[in-house]
Amino acid sequence: FAPKLLAGHSILLTAGPTREAIDPVRYISNQSSGKMGFALAKAAADMGAEVTLVSGPVNLTTPVGVKRVDVISTQDMLEAVMRRVDSHDIFIGCAAVADYRVTEIANEKIKKSSTDMQLALVRNPDILATVASHNPRPFTLGFAAETQDVERYAKDKLVRKKLDMIAANDVSNPELGFNADNNALKVIWAKGQEDLPATDKQTLAIQLLGIVAERIAILKDD
Ligand code: PMT
Repeated sequence: FAPKLLAGHSILLTAGPTREAIDPVRYISNQSSGKMGFALAKAAADMGAEVTLVSGPVNLTTPVGVKRVDVISTQDMLEAVMRRVDSHDIFIGCAAVADYRVTEIANEKIKKSSTDMQLALVRNPDILATVASHNPRPFTLGFAAETQDVERYAKDKLVRKKLDMIAANDVSNPELGFNADNNALKVIWAKGQEDLPATDKQTLAIQLLGIVAERIAILKDD
């Protein structure tokens, strides 16, 4: 039984990887399984929120009570998020979004040649930063997946992307983070931080959303 700490709130979440096509049969992507984002969606629904989950390609069942929108590429995910952002008061960017896409997707399968080849890549838009600079903006929580200097890089993302909160995710340990059942987070906001030690992603999701609910209640009283 989860206390309904998020009753009255509507949460828009991203989860999983995005996938950038190279040609009709090849793509660039990453190791995200979607488990952390889906755990957050389930926890948010259990805590009484209305939840919309925008998910990249994953092999997971939609949690009960969660509206799911499936996308493939970063551009698809951006469009799905921005179409819905105005009807939600909390945004959580848990997806491992591809930072680059190929400059031009080949229409036909690229043929092997006898020489090496190079792929030209172009920067993708930043979904989290786009949400955070939207007006009016939801309470915006980002993730920072780092293998080194985790706290420093996370604090930099908190400020640079103008977020309300960031969950720093040390992904240097293969037992935690990407495509694992467990995770650990350091949650950071302008005036404080809290460590959430390693545990299963469902427990961690409840703990993280507990902090979000508490911060939102404090901001409302300020
Ligand atoms: O899916 P799992 O296997 O359960 O793994 C969970 C996870 C490790 C993927 C998750 O906990 C996590 O850390 N997600 C963020 C992964 C990531 O790509 O982090 P980043 O530091 O590269 O990006 C920072 C933030 O900006 C993230 O909130 C990301 O969603 C967002 N972003 C990044 C690039 C981009 N173009 N648009 C974005 O919105």
